[in-house]
Amino acid sequence: MNLSELVKHRKSIRGYLDKAVEREKVMMCLEAARVAPSACNSQPWKFIIVDDRELKNKLCDGAFSGIYSMNTFCKTTPVIVAIVSDKSKFLARLGGMFRGTKYYLIDIGIAGEHFVLQAEDLGLGTCWIGWFNERAVKSILKVPQNKKIDILISLGYYDKEKMRPKHSREPMDKIASFNSY
Ligand SMILES: Cc1cc2nc3c(=O)[nH]c(=O)nc-3n(C[C@H](O)[C@H](O)[C@H](O)COP(=O)(O)O)c2cc1C
Repeated sequence: MNLSELVKHRKSIRGYLDKAVEREKVMMCLEAARVAPSACNSQPWKFIIVDDRELKNKLCDGAFSGIYSMNTFCKTTPVIVAIVSDKSKFLARLGGMFRGTKYYLIDIGIAGEHFVLQAEDLGLGTCWIGWFNERAVKSILKVPQNKKIDILISLGYYDKEKMRPKHSREPMDKIASFNSY
């Protein structure tokens, strides 16, 4: 698939096969994330890959119970990726304060999508997960409570037959214009 086909083919996957993902493929996704651009080249991220089945199950129980249970589909995923947001470089933080922009969130979004698109290219499914019990995730993964985990990504093989139809998107004339708003 070329890039335009790849980005059109990707969609959120919410049901996975009970099949482990090869570490080599996970490493390729991590490499794609590693080379992502970031404000002042801060690279304000750390990726924690949870592929140990027992730990992953424990993580899902903690992350997706109570008000977060809409994401219990994650229990079927063989891999959960937690992106720990690190501190940006001083200049990026200062610039961000001045501009009122959280550059680090843009940065982890770009790196995460690099990961996701590489996964797609390898025939793996993903879903961004923003709704989860962060305190429980940090405690289970031994991440200090003063750090932030803004996002998780599920990763795994999936049954292509069982995929749901693609979500629609706004038409081009609503989201883009040339030369003025
Ligand atoms: C930042 C972010 C957070 C998201 N959080 C969740 C989530 O908690 N649970 C979920 O099922 N999908 C989540 N999604 C997936 C979106 O619902 C999905 O990308 C959107 O509906 C478009 O569908 P598509 O990815 O299949 O194209 C999230 C996506 C993003 C980018």
